[in-house]
Amino acid sequence: MLTAALAPSLTHAHLAILHLEDSELDHQLVCRALTKEKLPYAITRVDSLGDFEAQVRQRSFDIVLADYRLPGFTALDAWAVLESTQIRLPFVLLSGAIGESAAVAAIQLGISDYLPKNDLPNLPRVMASAMELFKAKSAEARAMAELAASEQRLALFAQHLQTAIENERASIAREIHDDIGGSLAAVRLDLSWISRHVDSPETLEHVKTANDMLQHAIGASQRIMMNLRPAILDQGLFPAIQWLAESFQRRSGVKTSLVTNNPSLNPEKPIQLTAYRTAQEALTNISKYAQCSQVKMDLSDAEGVLTLEISDNGIGISAEALSNPTAFGIRGLKERARVVNGWLDLSTRLGQGTTLILNIPLNGAADSPDEADFQ
Ligand SMILES: Nc1ncnc2c1ncn2[C@@H]1O[C@H](COP(=O)(O)OP(=O)(O)O)[C@@H](O)[C@H]1O
Ligand SMILES: [Mg+2]
Repeated sequence: MLTAALAPSLTHAHLAILHLEDSELDHQLVCRALTKEKLPYAITRVDSLGDFEAQVRQRSFDIVLADYRLPGFTALDAWAVLESTQIRLPFVLLSGAIGESAAVAAIQLGISDYLPKNDLPNLPRVMASAMELFKAKSAEARAMAELAASEQRLALFAQHLQTAIENERASIAREIHDDIGGSLAAVRLDLSWISRHVDSPETLEHVKTANDMLQHAIGASQRIMMNLRPAILDQGLFPAIQWLAESFQRRSGVKTSLVTNNPSLNPEKPIQLTAYRTAQEALTNISKYAQCSQVKMDLSDAEGVLTLEISDNGIGISAEALSNPTAFGIRGLKERARVVNGWLDLSTRLGQGTTLILNIPLNGAADSPDEADFQ
C-alpha cells in the first residue's frame, strides 16, 4: 500500500520524508504534527519492505521515519534493506513502546534516533537533529574517504619514486662502469706503456703521480658504483650486509656485530635490495646521529619471514625528529618495505638507542614492483 500526502502550504523546498507505517491513522498523526510546525514537507507512506526498497531506489528522500513493528517484519529489516542499497539516509524509529534495550540496539546499528509515538510534538526537533547528525557523519565519512584515497595515491607515488630512483641508479652505475671505467682502464694501459718507453727520471716521476691519481679515480668510481648499484649483492644478501657492516665499522670505529641463522639465504632480488638499502640507510643514520658505541645486526629467514634488525645503543630519536617533514630516510624505507609486502618497525627511546626491524614474508607472494628490474 502506498499513499502520498503533500502538506497544503508547500510546493517547493520541502523535506522529502519516507514513512514506513502500516497504520493510516498514525501516518495522519505524523502529518498533523509536521504541519503544525509549518514544516515544509512531502511525505510518502509505505507499509511493505518491497515498496520501501522501491521508493528508496527510485526517489531521493531526506529522511526515513519508521514504525518498529509492521506486519511480518520490523524496522530493523528495513534498515538492512537500506544498507543493502548503499543509499544512506537518516533513519528515525517512530514507534510505540519498543523497550529501551531495543532502542539502544537499533541506535548501535546506526539508526539515527528513536521517538515514541506519544511524543509527536517533539518529532520536528528529533528529525532536525537526526538530519544534522547525519550530515556531519556523511561529511566526516567523505573526508575520511578522501584522506584514504590521497594516502593511497601518495603511497603509490612514493613506490613509483623508489622504483624510478633504483632504476636511475642502476643506469648511472652502468654508464660509470662502461664509460668512465673503460676510459680509466685505457689511460692506465697508456701510462704503463709510457713508463716502459721513457727513462727520464723526471718524466717517470710525473707518470707515477698520474698513476696514483688514476688509482684514486678508479677507487672513487668503484665506490660510487657500489653505492649506486650494490654489485656485492651478487654474492648474496648476507655477504652484502656483512660488507656494509664491516665498512661501517672501519669508517666509524663503532663496534658492529652481525649474526644470521642462514648465511646463504637467498630471497628474490627486490627483497634483497630492500633489505640492503634498509641496512645502508640505518647505518648512515647511525653514523650521522646515534652517537653510539655499539651496533648489533641480525638477519634471519626463520618462519618464512625475512627479518633484518639493526639496533644501536645511542641517543635515540625524539618525537620531533621522527615527525620532521623533511626527513625522508625512514619514511622511504617504510614505503620500500611496503612495495615487497613487508613492513618496517621502529622502536626508540631517548638515551636508550634505536632499533629498526624490517620484516618481509618470503612466501613468494611478494609482488614484483612494476617497471623495476632492480638489476
Ligand atoms: N639511529 C638514530 N639515532 C638517533 N637519531 C636518529 C637515528 N636515525 C634517525 N635519527 C633521527 O631521525 C631523523 C629522521 O631520520 P631519516 O628519516 O633517516 O631522515 P634524515 O636522515 O634524512 O634526516 C633524523 O633526522 C635524526 O634526527
Ligand atoms: Mg637518514
